[in-house]
Amino acid sequence: MTVSIKWFSHAAFAIENGEHTVLVDPFFTGNPLCSIKPDELERVDAIVVTHGHRDHIGDTEYLAKKHDATVISSVEICNWLGKRGVKKLHGQQPGGGHSHFFGTVKFTAAVHSSSLPDGSYGGIAMGVILETGGKRIYHSGDTALFSDMKIIGKNKLDAALLCIGGNYTMDVSEALEAASMLKPGILIPMHYDTWEVIRQDVVSFKNKAASICDVRILGINDTITI
Ligand code: NI
Ligand code: MN
Repeated sequence: MTVSIKWFSHAAFAIENGEHTVLVDPFFTGNPLCSIKPDELERVDAIVVTHGHRDHIGDTEYLAKKHDATVISSVEICNWLGKRGVKKLHGQQPGGGHSHFFGTVKFTAAVHSSSLPDGSYGGIAMGVILETGGKRIYHSGDTALFSDMKIIGKNKLDAALLCIGGNYTMDVSEALEAASMLKPGILIPMHYDTWEVIRQDVVSFKNKAASICDVRILGINDTITI
């Protein structure tokens, strides 16, 4: 089965297995790179949120209500969304994983914080391994480099979506180390160029990483299939 991965810019992706559409960190409103509006999305079955920061929880509340989609995130973020009227929620924490209607979601560690837009506690920040359509995809969330990425890379990753922007997350040189540990089939850089403070030379990253893995630089709203 082929799975498509669409990048909306920043850490926002749509992953489709031919039957279901899963969004990860859907940051549209207020995203200076994003050209589409949340209402342009035709189908949303589930939304995975790695942590509570505004550039990740983004339009989750609006889209979950509009599409009656299931939100999968930390228990704390799910509780917060529940109080705001989101109906379908599934709280998880790193480890174990859970089988959902579109595939398996397993959260991983991330070295980062997680407060919600109103200052509420969002639990811990996480990365996520999504298994759907026979493919395994790792989305790092926002994180510094950490050596347990070696463990994440033990099971073959078809794709890794890695933050490279620096300042809030790994930068280019740290993402290269991450790539060595994760050894993904393809690597899609994310969380860069959205603001001046996370501007990076993504072509230079691709060239440096070429000996480690196949880096695919996606343009905004580009889709690839794996
Ligand atoms: Ni963050
Ligand atoms: Mn972020």
